Amino acid sequence: MNLRKTLQARFPAVDPTRLPGGFDRVGDIAVVMVAPELASLDREIGEIILALHTNVRVVAKRDGQYHGEYRTLPLAIIAGEQRLTTVHRENGINLHLDLARVYFSVRSAHERARIAALVQPGETVAVLCSGIGPFPLVIARHSGAREVIGIEKNPMAHAYALQNLQANPKITGVRCLEGEVTWVLPMLDQKFDRILVALPHGGEALLPCALAALQPGGILHYYDMQAKGCSTATRTKVETACREQGRRMQALGITRCGHCGPAVYRLCLDAVIDAAR
Ligand SMILES: C[S@@+](CC[C@H](N)C(=O)[O-])C[C@H]1O[C@@H](n2cnc3c(N)ncnc32)[C@H](O)[C@@H]1O
Repeated sequence: MNLRKTLQARFPAVDPTRLPGGFDRVGDIAVVMVAPELASLDREIGEIILALHTNVRVVAKRDGQYHGEYRTLPLAIIAGEQRLTTVHRENGINLHLDLARVYFSVRSAHERARIAALVQPGETVAVLCSGIGPFPLVIARHSGAREVIGIEKNPMAHAYALQNLQANPKITGVRCLEGEVTWVLPMLDQKFDRILVALPHGGEALLPCALAALQPGGILHYYDMQAKGCSTATRTKVETACREQGRRMQALGITRCGHCGPAVYRLCLDAVIDAAR
């Protein structure tokens, strides 16, 4: 049964447009947004979600925005079991995680599949800011990449990434490294065919080091948050970083792959760096 309709029937005095119409399901956890003025109904809303969805064991409400250097999301449990750990399945992989301590968004599943489909057999790929490992694992699972390296500085996210490598034993060729990208990537002293900069807030700080590790003719996927119609600013960030290293950028396209608040979008600029003329 439709969540909003059920809630409308239960709370007829509430403006229906203020009631949650759905939720993100991360493993067996439902993550729901409840309007601030409906906070007194939290528990009942949570219990209704549990009753409607037997595969949900925990209901948590968003209690703020993604924040901090580890980009975690404040959540408050409103019904069900008292935990924010779970196992989520997407794109044919299993991901263990703790929503209280690591970044993870189910809404990027299509984007991860899009990138994996672009990777050519034999490529070496670096995922900068790899979190619990979803990009490296989905790429390795669905492409013929020779090697995929993830780099992540949140020790808890890195620990989950290692656990997730073990949880997907048939997927090979992935290494997850812990640490600050600007330290770890240069230490590898390796040139990659493809690099993802998966840090939409502040990722420009990682561009010099990402470009230095990208082969001539390599592909960059640069994630950025921009207001509607402002994708030129994203291109400018990459063009500026390229100019500073005497490199050329040729944009292949910009994909809108999520949003963060009204009319603020998560974009991915795909570009080839120093394409052969
Ligand atoms: C938006 S999340 C993306 C995580 C992952 N790619 C995913 O899709 O689930 C950004 C991640 O980058 C990590 N991070 C931020 N700055 C970093 C840096 N300078 N070096 C390494 N990791 C960083 C954060 O801890 C966080 O896990």
